[in-house]
Amino acid sequence: MTLSAIEANDLKQAPAVEGVLPAVRSRWSARSFADREVDSATLAKVFEAARWTASAYNEQPWRFIVGLRNSDTFNKIFQSLIGFNQAWAGKAPVLILGAASTKFSHNGKPNAYALYDLGAAASYLTLQAASLGLTTHQMAGYDQAAARAALGIPEEYALGSVIALGYQGEPAALGHEQLIAMETSPRERKPLSELVLSAWGEPANLA
Ligand SMILES: Cc1cc2nc3c(=O)[nH]c(=O)nc-3n(C[C@H](O)[C@H](O)[C@H](O)COP(=O)(O)O)c2cc1C
Repeated sequence: MTLSAIEANDLKQAPAVEGVLPAVRSRWSARSFADREVDSATLAKVFEAARWTASAYNEQPWRFIVGLRNSDTFNKIFQSLIGFNQAWAGKAPVLILGAASTKFSHNGKPNAYALYDLGAAASYLTLQAASLGLTTHQMAGYDQAAARAALGIPEEYALGSVIALGYQGEPAALGHEQLIAMETSPRERKPLSELVLSAWGEPANLA
């Protein structure tokens, strides 16, 4: 007997801390997706949130290639995934590949913050998705060269993660012991004392 989707979702919530955004608490990376499409108006809201991310020189270097299941784009992104990710991500209704322009448009010089900004936009996307009741799961486990070639992405764009997006499904539907165990185990984080410093090696006193 494994946990139901509702029980797994409860278990995965971050502890409630007053004043922290609800979507920060509720976002987690599911691997089981329900057999339910995401309508285009909902999808537009997810990308609208990403659009308003801050970026160096307001370059907005991110581009998101979105593929709906059974589309050519979805299949190309899916084919580039490593086997471990193919084992579960094919049931997601949407696969997204993030790319970032590595040159500033105002002067053609390298933008060392392109991937940083893409990552920030991906965070907005995942939080907006969580607040709409969707789950997202980012993946670095894919063949960048294969994805770039299949999708015709120019060399001056750096690639970020593939993001699976959809509605959470039943853990048991993953059909594989290891995946079900990951789907039903608690999330872990380092303590703030390790992450936030008042000087190098000294935890900031935030209490
Ligand atoms: C850039 C990035 C790459 C990731 N790559 C993979 C991946 O290839 N396969 C996978 O199953 N999970 C992948 N993950 C998911 C992480 O393992 C997950 O976010 C982490 O364990 C924290 O769990 P949470 O998102 O539920 O809080 C990736 C996450 C990020 C942000």
